[in-house]
Amino acid sequence: MRIQVDVNEAMQDYVADISLREPDVLKELRHRTSELPLALMQISPEQGQFLSLLVKALGVRKAVEVGVFTGYSLLSTALALPADGRVVALDVSEEWTDIAREFAGRAGVADRIDLRVGDARQSLDALLAEDGEAGSYDFFFIDADKENYAAYYEAGLKLLRPGGLIVVDNVLWHGAVLDESQQDSETTALRAFNAKVRDDKRVDLSVVPYADGLTFALKR
Ligand SMILES: C[S@@+](CC[C@H](N)C(=O)[O-])C[C@H]1O[C@@H](n2cnc3c(N)ncnc32)[C@H](O)[C@@H]1O
Repeated sequence: MRIQVDVNEAMQDYVADISLREPDVLKELRHRTSELPLALMQISPEQGQFLSLLVKALGVRKAVEVGVFTGYSLLSTALALPADGRVVALDVSEEWTDIAREFAGRAGVADRIDLRVGDARQSLDALLAEDGEAGSYDFFFIDADKENYAAYYEAGLKLLRPGGLIVVDNVLWHGAVLDESQQDSETTALRAFNAKVRDDKRVDLSVVPYADGLTFALKR
């Protein structure tokens, strides 16, 4: 038998009650984002705090984020970096990342953020081609288009140093990965991605069924 708490809404509220320390600037960003039709894309405040804790615990100085939206995960990361830390942030949307830029300024962390707007695969190729970037990153967060997760993961492995961590959001895709009647491009890509990482001997691995499912892959 497995011990498993039922993480229903009341339990989620309890967890927030006993743990959440959301900075005002992130609270304001969340309220601003909630007015957008695709607000659901934003990670939760608990997840943001988890990212911050990881960044601090691992002593991250150089990070990459693929999938910025309005910047909640980006600011959670940037606020946790040391003053001379840097996060390269990739997204295809000017409109959404304009909000991220505004709130990065308000949070006083704009100088820790290198925001590159364009297709993330091209941005990652460009980053890899820059002198000294390959093998130099500590942390790589993936939360963008699911069809390209495998490509982002491969780029992440090239950019990370040994011991660097890849964190991947949405790997359980609201349960759809288990439902074989779901054959859309996002779900099939996530199933293939999960199997690929399972069999990848280049990383140590943990999949945590928290929120929409998070994969942690530590580069060997
Ligand atoms: C789930 S949202 C990211 C949420 C964000 N991490 C947060 O905490 O609010 C996914 C983002 O991926 C971006 N995206 C989708 N396809 C992309 C691509 N090919 N290249 C770069 N960004 C892409 C979208 O514009 C969107 O902002």
